[in-house]
Amino acid sequence: MSKHRVGIEALAVALPERYVELEDLAKARGVDPAKYTTGLGGKQMAVTDPGEDSVALAANAVGALLRATGQDPGQLGMLAVGTESGVDHAKPVASYVHGLHGLPRAMRTFDIQHACYGGTAGLMAAAEWIASGAAAGRKALVVCADVARYELLGPGEPTQGGAAVALLVSDTPDLLALDLGISGAATQHVHDFWRPSGRREALVDGHYSVKCYLEALGEAYRGWRQRALERELVRPGPTLPSEQLARLLFHVPFCKMAKKAYAHLRQVDLELAAGAPLSAEALAKESAALEAKLAGQVGSSLWLNARVGNAYTASLYLALAGLLETEASALAGQRLGLFSYGSGYCSELFSGVVGERAAARIAAAGLEELLARRERVDVAEYERLYRLAADAPEARAPRPGMFRFTGIDSEGRRQYAAG
Ligand code: CAA
Repeated sequence: MSKHRVGIEALAVALPERYVELEDLAKARGVDPAKYTTGLGGKQMAVTDPGEDSVALAANAVGALLRATGQDPGQLGMLAVGTESGVDHAKPVASYVHGLHGLPRAMRTFDIQHACYGGTAGLMAAAEWIASGAAAGRKALVVCADVARYELLGPGEPTQGGAAVALLVSDTPDLLALDLGISGAATQHVHDFWRPSGRREALVDGHYSVKCYLEALGEAYRGWRQRALERELVRPGPTLPSEQLARLLFHVPFCKMAKKAYAHLRQVDLELAAGAPLSAEALAKESAALEAKLAGQVGSSLWLNARVGNAYTASLYLALAGLLETEASALAGQRLGLFSYGSGYCSELFSGVVGERAAARIAAAGLEELLARRERVDVAEYERLYRLAADAPEARAPRPGMFRFTGIDSEGRRQYAAG
């Protein structure tokens, strides 16, 4: 493991200005609302119009981060954006964000694409850049920004959403010091979720995607577990390695997925500890105890995801923000496990230790205020916004300090307004 303390110093969140209640959506679709709220585990779903594209969301999160931290932009040396919802085949979202904020010219800017995994790839690249010494004291911005969009009326519809999370990555990891070199990765070329160029809606083989997620989780966890045992971050014994992590955070395409993930991870861990598949009796015992264990190790990380829906790259980091908002003080000095999954697929299970200043840092993100400022829309309004052409955003003034996409000029260049 790297001797350097590197990780997330601070984070900020940008949310779309509107949302729909999943109960309203279920009623409009003639579905029992319990399917969306209990079956999928959601409450609300962020609603965007084309003015809130991945650039606007990313720029809004970076603006919030710079304001909350007072970070001197002159100290930044890297801006990496993880996104599935890029806006141009050549020009990255990072380039727009760099320009909108007038960031220093002497820095790297680039996007990383691998469905929902891109932000984690950016975080690892930034952390390893700093740990290597190449950053020479500079910091990195890593932004996870996405609009999750499926076909209207399709099975993926209640699992849409959108958000951006901006991470300040440095050698003063007040929020989360990463265990560099310990993570486990799992990759496989599959078509569980994809979006051919030119399409606005993702294509997905839903139930297969859940299977792929769980398979990737098991493999990534085995990699993390082996290295964590070797480096004595966790120890063999009656307490499972995964139980030695204070909390487990997952990529959350819908909240129920985190429950499925937790159950699967525990089974993998129990079988590794036993050296054999679990008997029917052991499985039944595990199943009976699962809800209580889930509430203790995962539960408090899901409330923000339940109110935003899927935000692809940003979803794991919304879970981190939600967890720290409720438990940062109690968790200071304790280790978390985080699982990032990008369909297609690439995934990584990594860990880190919550910093002593995490409570103050997350308070500065003002999550409750962000949620309170949103406007509830009905299903007819959500459908109207959904159907707007990608290059025809609503004429709506950006809020102070925020950005909106306003249209494309005759040369195909995207235009943004600042509030
Ligand atoms: N009351 C309570 N629960 C109910 C219910 C009711 N009336 N009716 C159904 N349910 C439950 C079902 O039992 C089921 O629960 P379990 O999975 O625990 O059995 C749950 O509600 C969902 O029901 P279905 O499986 O019948 O739902 P569906 O076939 O309509 O679609 C889905 C579910 C496949 C997840 C679909 O929403 C989808 O395709 N979503 C997009 C893909 C996705 O999110 N994949 C996740 C893994 S890939 C990934 O993570 C990357 C990414 O971000 C996309």
